Amino acid sequence: MESKVKLAGHPVHPMLIVFPLGLLATAVIFDIIFLVSGNSQWTVVAYYMIGAGIIGGVAAAVFGWLDWIAIPNGTRARRIGLWHGAGNMVVVGLFILSWVLRREGPEVPPTGAIVAGLAGVVIALVTAWLGGELVGRLGVGVDEGAHLNSPSSLSELPASAGLAGGARSASTNNHPYTGGERRASVASSYAGADRRGH
Ligand code: HEM
Repeated sequence: MESKVKLAGHPVHPMLIVFPLGLLATAVIFDIIFLVSGNSQWTVVAYYMIGAGIIGGVAAAVFGWLDWIAIPNGTRARRIGLWHGAGNMVVVGLFILSWVLRREGPEVPPTGAIVAGLAGVVIALVTAWLGGELVGRLGVGVDEGAHLNSPSSLSELPASAGLAGGARSASTNNHPYTGGERRASVASSYAGADRRGH
């Protein structure tokens, strides 16, 4: 199912998630280094990284939400997307709490601030898996008819171009979501391509 918000032919949400994931996870690693070394330079940097990570998380969430509302009701993708999105909002909330708690003295954050960050990362491991499930398993954010020889996203051609039965896959764009059917049609098309290759 194609993403609703794209830049240069690719979904915007996965472009932005690197900021919260990278910044927030690294901030927790810096907290741990502080606990081991006692050097408060690490926690001062973590404080600013958490602030930037929160802003990145909110920006990423807006685009994730825009893709999620386009997923048809009653599908597994809709339910997984809800858990993924709500879980990530909890993650961002925990880091907001962590940031607020350390605002008075970022050099030596209170235990609660460090625990909130650790809890956020643990939950993010689960929500990131759910995000991977949305894309890799359920095909959310994947162009209709995508295959190993799809033409460039910058071309005017649909992803299904060049695939046996590609025209049929592309035409499903206007039909209600039928993931199973799409997968079946793509699988049979691949089978055809494999046969031709041998
Ligand atoms: C801090 C906030 C968030 C982070 C770090 C995050 C992270 C991720 C990750 C890691 C993926 C998998 C990307 C891939 O494998 O290519 C993903 C996909 C996805 N996420 Fe999020 N997410 C966030 C917020 C949200 C929210 C609030 C929603 C709305 C319910 C949402 C909806 C989606 C959807 C629909 C996809 C499928 C791919 C797409 O449509 O672009 N995400 N997200």
